Amino acid sequence: MLVNMKNMLDKAKKEKYAVPHFNINNLEWTRFILEACNENKSPVILGVSEGAASYMGGYSVVSAIVSNLIDELKIEVPVALHLDHGSSIEVCKKAIESGFTSVMFDGSKHSLEKNIEMTKEVVDYAHKKNVTVEAEIGSIGGEEDGIANETMYATVEDAIQLSKTGIDFLAPALGSVHGLYKGEPNLNFERMLEISQTTNLPLVLHGGTGIPEEQIKKAISCGICKLNINTELQIAWTNAVREFVETNKNVYDPRKIIKSGEKAIKDAIKTKLELLGTIGII
Ligand code: 13P
Repeated sequence: MLVNMKNMLDKAKKEKYAVPHFNINNLEWTRFILEACNENKSPVILGVSEGAASYMGGYSVVSAIVSNLIDELKIEVPVALHLDHGSSIEVCKKAIESGFTSVMFDGSKHSLEKNIEMTKEVVDYAHKKNVTVEAEIGSIGGEEDGIANETMYATVEDAIQLSKTGIDFLAPALGSVHGLYKGEPNLNFERMLEISQTTNLPLVLHGGTGIPEEQIKKAISCGICKLNINTELQIAWTNAVREFVETNKNVYDPRKIIKSGEKAIKDAIKTKLELLGTIGII
């Protein structure tokens, strides 16, 4: 069932667990993730970056793949199709028009005033179409950062200002980065809790790969309702496929090669669902 993220994350906030957001990269990954979450009776958010949408042939292609897989595979758990880090108003509108049920507008590279103004425009457009909106405050770094510095962290005051745009969810940068960390992440839990209490919004934690389990549990207790995971699945799948290709040098059927990463990806998903507390909740 394709839905927006509203009920999913409101329920997660009330019952103190976090819904997984897994990034998709192709048809097979989408299928593996949907099957794993359906088997484990967990809601799931399929995150699509601009790069992934372009790689897969465009937003309408992604949307058609997801909705048809849900039908053909008889997926019964709630699934949200979510634009990850939309960098412009136009790209958010394009995803919405193509059937995405949720979008993230990432205005973190702009001034606070500009971020608020652009986020508001996305919210007004999205809500008319029953699409939910996530926004970012502070700056979540990339792998090149490896570890976040204080200047990248969201402030409580800025978070409150951005929440007034009517967004449904907030991703405050509080020490996580995308990709692999250089050392241990240094999440500011105190501020996370304060932002959760003052904005009263379900919070989103990006850069889920490499955050120790105890820190993820603590983040959930401080208001995190959605955890974004990408790199971890990429590594799990790639390691399995690499081993398969190296030990089966005469296999050239791409279906066998891509499928050889299925178990690794599904096992990694199950471990994450256990940690987040979503197994069996549907
Ligand atoms: P990782 O690649 O670090 O898991 O982060 C994913 C993410 O935050 C996508 O928005």
